Parts: sequence; C-alpha cells; structure tokens
Amino acid sequence: MNYCFNDKLEIVGGNRLFGTFKNQTSKNAVLPIMSASIMTEGVVEIRQVPDILDVKNMKKILRKLGVKVTKKKDSLLLDSSKISRFQVDENLSKTMRSSIFLLGALLSRFKEAHITFPGGCKIGNRPIDLHIDALKKLNVKVIEDESGFFFDGRSAKPNKIKLKIPSVGATENIVQFAVKLKGKTEIFNPAREPEVVDLCNFLNSMGAKIVGAGTKKITIYGVDSLFGIQYTPIKDRIVSGTIMIATALTKGKVTIIDGCAKENESLIKILSSIGCKIDLENDIIKVSREGELKNINIVTGYFPKFPTDLQSIILPLLCVAEGNSKVQELVFENRFLIAKELNRMGANISLSNAHTALVRGLSAPRGRTVKATDLRGGAGLVLAGLIAKGKTIISDVHFIDRGYDHIEHMLSSLGANIRRVCQKQKSR
Ligand code: UD1
Repeated sequence: MNYCFNDKLEIVGGNRLFGTFKNQTSKNAVLPIMSASIMTEGVVEIRQVPDILDVKNMKKILRKLGVKVTKKKDSLLLDSSKISRFQVDENLSKTMRSSIFLLGALLSRFKEAHITFPGGCKIGNRPIDLHIDALKKLNVKVIEDESGFFFDGRSAKPNKIKLKIPSVGATENIVQFAVKLKGKTEIFNPAREPEVVDLCNFLNSMGAKIVGAGTKKITIYGVDSLFGIQYTPIKDRIVSGTIMIATALTKGKVTIIDGCAKENESLIKILSSIGCKIDLENDIIKVSREGELKNINIVTGYFPKFPTDLQSIILPLLCVAEGNSKVQELVFENRFLIAKELNRMGANISLSNAHTALVRGLSAPRGRTVKATDLRGGAGLVLAGLIAKGKTIISDVHFIDRGYDHIEHMLSSLGANIRRVCQKQKSR
C-alpha cells in the first residue's frame, strides 16, 4: 500500500454497482493469526493476506519483537525463531487495538509480557479488564504501572473461566495462553465469532488441542509445543457485507465470491426482509435490488446476532428506506460517530442516547466534504457517497485503509465513480 496519510476519496454518486466481486481475507482473522505465529519457533506461512494498514502495522510490531517477516506474493512468512523481546513497542501498540492479541501469544512463548494500553478505532472505552481478570484466574500475576501492564505467568495453572461478556479479544488471548498450559482450561461463554473459530483452527493445525470453538464452551488441553504450518485464513464477512449493502443502496446487481453467506445470515435476513433479492449457492452470494426498501429496526449483538461492525455501514441504507428505522447498538458505546457526518450529507439521524439512533427514511444524500472518524464509519460514508447527488470528498481515509484492501478498487471495479486523491506518493 503506497499511499499518503492524508489521502482523500472522491466519489461522484449515481452509478449502480454491477459485476462480480471476490472477497478479501478477514482482517479480524488474519491479525490474531499473525500474532499467534510467535507461539512457535517454526516458520508460519499465512496465505492470501490482505493489503491493509492493520496488517502493515502488525508486521511492524512483530519485526520490533524480532520476528523475521518476509512477503512472498500475497503470503507472509513469519519466522519467530530468533524472537527475544516480550515487550510490545508502545507507539506501535497505540496504532491498533489488535496489539492486545499479542498478550496471550507473548505470555505463551515467554511466560512474561509487557504491554501498554492498546489503540484502535475510537469506538468507546474498549477496556481490557476481562483479559486481565481471566489471566489472573489462570494464576498470572499482573502488575500495573504508568507504562502499562506487566504479566508474569511463570506459575500459571489451568482453570475454569466464565466470561461475563463474550469478548472476542479476551477469548483469543485466553485460548492462546492456555494452549501451552499443562492441563485443561475451560472457557464458558466465549466469543463465538467465526474469526475466533479460525484462530482455534489455525492453532489446532499447529498442534494445539482446542475443542468447542464456535460453541458456548471452549476446552483447551495444554500441549508442549507447536510447529510451523501454512494456513489460509477465512474471508471477511464485514467486507462482503459492505459490498452487499453497497449493491442494495445503488440498486445494483452483484455476485460475491467467497461471500461468507453462513457468517452473514443476520445481514442476509435483514436485506431480504427490506426488499433485496439474495440468492445463495455454495459461498456465492447474488444480491440485487430493484424496488424501494422498507424500514426496519436493527439491534447489534454478539455472533450470530447482527454485527456491530456492519451497523455504521447499514445506516446509509436505512436513510433511504421508506419509513423510520431504529438502530440499537448493544456492543460498543460511541459507535454512531458517522451519524453527524451522514446528517451533513442530508440524512436525518437523531440519537436518543449513546446506544440508540432513530433514522428517518427517504432522505436524499447530497455530496459534501466529510471526515471518516473510524474504520466502519468511514466505509459507511463511502457508501452514502455512492448514491449522493454530486461529489463527496472523504478525508482521513487511513481509517478505512485499516480494514479494506483498496476500497476504491473494489467499488470502481463494480462501476462506481470513485478515486483516491493523493498529494504526495509515499510508502507508509
Ligand atoms: C473485536 C473485533 C471488532 C469487533 C468486536 C466485536 C478484532 C480485531 N476486532 O474487537 O472488529 O467490533 O470484536 O465483535 O477482532 N469488553 C470489556 N472488557 C474487556 C474486553 C471487552 O468490557 O476486557 C467489552 C467491550 O467494551 C465491548 C464488548 O466487550 O463492549 C465486546 O468487545 P470485544 O469482543 O472484546 O471486542 P474486540 O475484541 O476489541
């Protein structure tokens, strides 16, 4: 990815999307898999790695730890045999939330880890209390100071852990740490997201013994060591969902290959019920829309419920539906940052509290200069731009680049009038 930090996207609205889209690999699967690769001294090859900013930052973090990272076409070879540090670089850790996944992997490898508070999108407080409480249950000593947290897992023991919230990150950290903990660790109420299942599949391919991923209880039987493997992570259900919604918005007709139909059941149900036509065959999703859209109430939740990551993306669709819709965001607070920018484009969204948005339908978006405030909110603005009258200019595209492998290419290949404006071409 050779773009400048200050890139903008320019979209001239009005084109309908047509054609075939091949889905990218999942950001939320590939990042924890990259960090889990340090749990073996063998070489791990991760295939079909997307060209996104979060991967680029994770590569930097791993290199700082001493991992040899080599790119081979769209594969990454990660060699952690010489890794010697158990401290995540503070500045890099602030660039993304996923640096927290290194906690479980580092503890597993070194029995010690030092991390600073992780960064990421500004969607709520995003505490790490569940990660810390769970590790304490495994007898890890946690010392907090002004530089962050120091974890000492030298006298760790397996245990039963009940998560009060099925946190994706906490589940992934416990799993990673418990994989080499002698004995049986059980996680009750774990996250059941497909990306958690994929991490467990990856670890099992490396020699781990994890049972029950994707169900209400995960059991981990400790093993002595893991070995290097080649692995292709799952596809990105949120990117596929974005294309489905973009097609519905523009009254288009798109075929999505590797569309994550099973993982996107909640979205497909919603789109079908408001007036889209969706045909599924194997993992090919054919989506189209001709008539008007009906309004609907949406509540986000943990998998398999409607994902919080698609909430900002579906908002522009609800803005043009007939009638009013209500959206309840039950996973993160502060995830309606996009609403203000959409309103500037002519939408009528009011927040009755931090968790509830009321969307008045039949608005006609107008092109404006708007600002991406977070990854998925930024993608939502791009979608609004596709149907806005006139030109939309979106700044702070670096948020969108965190998770979309060149969103402008994805959409222009389907007929959208979208281009990236970069003043100075330099690598980041
Ligand atoms: C992951 C995803 C993110 C997605 C989210 C929910 C990655 C890289 N990111 O984020 O895209 O939106 O899952 O599906 O995979 N919580 C606590 N204490 C904790 C941890 C979490 O209270 O220690 C709360 C959070 O504030 C939030 C909820 O639990 O309200 C779910 O968060 P969590 O599942 O941990 O999200 P992430 O792993 O950060």
